[in-house]
Amino acid sequence: MSKQRILSGIQPTGNLHLGNYLGAIRNWVALQDEYDSFLFMADLHAVTVPHDPQKLAINTLNVAATYIACGIDPQKATIFVQSHVPAHSELAWLFNCITPLNWLERMIQFKEKAVKQGENVTVGLFDYPVLQAADILLYEPDLVPVGEDQKQHVELTRDIASRLNFQYGSEEKPVLKVPEPLIQASGARVMSLTDGTKKMSKSDPSELSRVDLSDDADTIQKKIKRCKTDPVRGLVFDDPKRPECNNLLTLYMLLSGQSKEAVAVECADMGWGQFKPLLAETMVEALRPIRETFLELTSDRGYLESVLRSGREKAEAIAAHTLANVKTAMGYTIPR
Ligand code: TYM
Repeated sequence: MSKQRILSGIQPTGNLHLGNYLGAIRNWVALQDEYDSFLFMADLHAVTVPHDPQKLAINTLNVAATYIACGIDPQKATIFVQSHVPAHSELAWLFNCITPLNWLERMIQFKEKAVKQGENVTVGLFDYPVLQAADILLYEPDLVPVGEDQKQHVELTRDIASRLNFQYGSEEKPVLKVPEPLIQASGARVMSLTDGTKKMSKSDPSELSRVDLSDDADTIQKKIKRCKTDPVRGLVFDDPKRPECNNLLTLYMLLSGQSKEAVAVECADMGWGQFKPLLAETMVEALRPIRETFLELTSDRGYLESVLRSGREKAEAIAAHTLANVKTAMGYTIPR
């Protein structure tokens, strides 16, 4: 029996942070042996807000290097660049023509990002989830492993697939496979280090709010030293009045590889003065091999480009097949 498939991606809009690692990449690494994995850099999504053309290509290569540095094996997984496979844009157009406007008006991430853009908010930002649906459905994955913030986009993807199947397929012969989101119980929503009620995010203006995977030991120590805590002694999980405490304990649990129960016992009587250095040290050690491999990989552009070339070949073959199926179902003739 052939393996089930996963697909996921990250926007190359700057350095990746702990949220991207714990919410997404770390889970892909755990799944890559069991699943046929398609992992890409969403560089078409990266231009839906103002971007620097000087940095787009290098950021894209850096994200590929980060995937590999975190443990994705290019021999097992297909790593590719979204814009290298034109079927993404073409399928997005076809989906645009079956997606009701009001489905997109409900998207939380659009509303949040649009506020920041004011008058300059683009059609692309509004249409972003439709492109994401195309990214996913082209590869007919079984599962889409993402952080909590992408759940609504995967649900929209399911709705678009079902609508297309209803309009242009039949129950016996659906055109598109309807995938499921895969969201882990912990790490799916890593919070800001300066406000435990806000998600850790690349676009937060404060560098102190996140730990980047490329941060060195001194930077990590500084960020943990200055992160927000509370005046309570004794550290506990899941107290809604102590969001920072829950977030920092969860980070310690995930990075140390211990169970929640073990961490709860270990930290029950600790004060912040004892916990912060412990968390900082654990984080430095967990991220050290990632950072070191990342630095090695980014000095070998030729290797990264060769990974992306072979990824593109594999991705393109599958994407072309699905796109042709959709076009045929919608009444297009496919030139031979
Ligand atoms: P992006 O680039 O914002 O984030 C990439 C992945 O990291 C997860 N993530 C987090 N997880 C936990 N805590 C956080 N604070 C945190 N911040 C980010 C995200 O949930 C995501 O899994 N639209 C997508 C990219 C995309 C995509 C796709 C993903 C485009 N097409 C198709 C999956 C399938 C995005 O902007 O993710």
